[in-house]
Amino acid sequence: FQIVDSSFVAGAGSLASLPPPVSAEVAFAGRSNVGKSSLINTLVERKGLVRTSSNPGSTRQINLYEARARDGAVFQLVDLPGYGFTRRSKSEQAAWASLIEGYLRGRVTLAAVLLLVDARRGLEEDDLELIRFIEASRDVARRPVELLLVATKVDKVQRSSVRRALDQLSAAAPRMAGGGLRRAIGFSSITGEGRRDLWLAIRRVTQL
Ligand code: GTP
Ligand code: MG
Repeated sequence: FQIVDSSFVAGAGSLASLPPPVSAEVAFAGRSNVGKSSLINTLVERKGLVRTSSNPGSTRQINLYEARARDGAVFQLVDLPGYGFTRRSKSEQAAWASLIEGYLRGRVTLAAVLLLVDARRGLEEDDLELIRFIEASRDVARRPVELLLVATKVDKVQRSSVRRALDQLSAAAPRMAGGGLRRAIGFSSITGEGRRDLWLAIRRVTQL
């Protein structure tokens, strides 16, 4: 899982400005501040590729990155703006929803959505809404979008309770028609824990 090269492809604040779909995309979704941008940096082993911030709501557009593995496989990693950030205006929230939903529903190259959930918080209503949205749009698009759960910031959870947190998360997720949402993967961008498992899962779902 050595990534030999990674680069920024494009940022899109509207569906019209998305770059043309070229190869399999893996999108990272979740609440603001859950660690989506940090996780992408950890996956490609470049601290500064994606901007991260302790202020929730720092990623406001859809950002696409390309990563190339040693064996030549190429992945598009898609950083989605976070949800659940209430300090935004109603119109901003509506614009956010149509951008994300349009992307998830219409992107032909979307292979998988990795839903990130803070290991300390578990699934919240926003997350369940996203799961239901993906499930519903799967029928419309007639393409298999896989959904995987990732528990982030496991370095903040006591060693002895990580397993319990992952069990609870896996059990709380509704079963998907497409068979997605197998066991949640624990991840930390501080320690790098889970990086290998995540790459294995990404390669499996993208079949690259
Ligand atoms: P938005 O762009 O606002 O949606 O947030 P995001 O999900 O991209 O989160 P981001 O990666 O910017 O991280 C948010 C904060 O959490 C930052 O202060 C990170 O340093 C911190 N953080 C991210 N991942 C981890 C982790 O694995 N462990 C710990 N302890 N902190 C983390
Ligand atoms: Mg971000």
